[in-house]
Amino acid sequence: MKYDSNYCISRRGFLAAVASAAASASLRPVRASAVDERSLKVAPGKARFGDADGPFTPVWAYNGTIPGPTLRLRQGQPVRITVENGLDEDTTVHWHGIRLPNAMDGVPGLTQSPIKPGESFVYEFTPPDAGTFWYHPHTDSLVQLGSGLAGPLIVEEAEPAAFDRDLLWLLQDWRLAKDGQIAGGFGSMMDASMSGRVGNVVTINGQAPTDQSVRAGERVRLRLANAALARMMALRFEGHRPVIVAVDGQPCEPHEPADGRLVLAPAMRIDVVLDMQGDPGSRHAVIDDFYDGLAYTLTNLAYDKASPLRAHPLDARLALPRNPLPAPNLANVVRQEIVLQGGMMGGGKLAGVGGMMGMGMPGMKGSPAWAINGMSMTGDGHAGMAPQFTLERGATCRLTMRNETAWWHPMHVHGFSLSVLSRNGAPVPHRQWQDTVLLAPKDVIECAFVADNPGDWMLHCHVADHQMAGLMTVFRVT
Ligand code: C2O
Ligand code: CU
Ligand code: CU
Repeated sequence: MKYDSNYCISRRGFLAAVASAAASASLRPVRASAVDERSLKVAPGKARFGDADGPFTPVWAYNGTIPGPTLRLRQGQPVRITVENGLDEDTTVHWHGIRLPNAMDGVPGLTQSPIKPGESFVYEFTPPDAGTFWYHPHTDSLVQLGSGLAGPLIVEEAEPAAFDRDLLWLLQDWRLAKDGQIAGGFGSMMDASMSGRVGNVVTINGQAPTDQSVRAGERVRLRLANAALARMMALRFEGHRPVIVAVDGQPCEPHEPADGRLVLAPAMRIDVVLDMQGDPGSRHAVIDDFYDGLAYTLTNLAYDKASPLRAHPLDARLALPRNPLPAPNLANVVRQEIVLQGGMMGGGKLAGVGGMMGMGMPGMKGSPAWAINGMSMTGDGHAGMAPQFTLERGATCRLTMRNETAWWHPMHVHGFSLSVLSRNGAPVPHRQWQDTVLLAPKDVIECAFVADNPGDWMLHCHVADHQMAGLMTVFRVT
């Protein structure tokens, strides 16, 4: 696979050059006003996940790479991204987690017409928040995401934070057949009504993981992004104590995760700081033990022989500068509740959903297995989806999400970040904001957000099979 690391390096080099030029002339920092121009071409390609003599896997890719190129943008600088569709089916791109104008959100039918084969669409927005985000299609989502279409989107802080290295692991999960081809059977009722299409090969940045080499004494910022269709992960770093500094791109109070496990559901991102305190030459497993009895070693931190970079861990502060999120006014809220229903209960029976109605519109894919408040909206988003609720612009919404099912659901809201207030009645500490909130079976989660961004916005489970099979809704901000 090709990487665009050159690109990242040259851009960083450029920023460094700009910064030092500004400092030496004691000017104010260069105003980020010029439009940053990017382009993505969506097309069939091929990837090799394992060794050099392994099989090629036909995939769909952005600019020919798995994952797509890392888009490194600057906070507050306008960007224009031209997306050209080289597939023989429609596509769109959704900029997951970015608070942007509704017309740029990439939901077919709802916010734009799909990009037809051979056509292009120009996305323009100015990222207000620094952090770790990602992009992916919102058309035929299950097949397109499951065929490889996903890429990282990093918005850089105005002031670079104090880390020795900035690493990114974009995690993907593939269901491959013996010959290395992507297995068929997308959207089976079995996957749709249970845990979704969990695969059999996990990749880091498009490669079957080999060791991650590190140096003793260095402080690494590791950006983790789960771009899987359905696989939940819980990562443990043996012999290390990762500190969470941001969730879903939004800085939080730095804290160590409960039990040392980083729970990363599909579409979630976690930024951690790792002080590499192991001995030169040592090796430490990174284990994913989310599923009972199915723990595996994802990769290893392999220390090179070099003597430690420094004797003691850095003493610099870990907290990242917070983003300009509007503060919810909890004294004056509009309450809304969404209840997640459906799925298999065991014994091969779908759970009863009172008055579950499929919006059986032509062109919609997937039969309903799930519902939100008794309504199943299936597919990727489409014109004429009636909003579940409407908020007046500027109002604070206090949103309760209640999982009545026997399954896990990472619920994702477009266009906003949610302040997570409580889980099953217990306050959620560390001032966490998330665009994707994981609900365990029977969980009840309370969040709040200011409805400052007008438009029709999606709210759906990011297990792609669940979304396609009805765990999706829309709300409106006027
Ligand atoms: Cu990343 Cu509608 O999703
Ligand atoms: Cu999104
Ligand atoms: Cu789900």
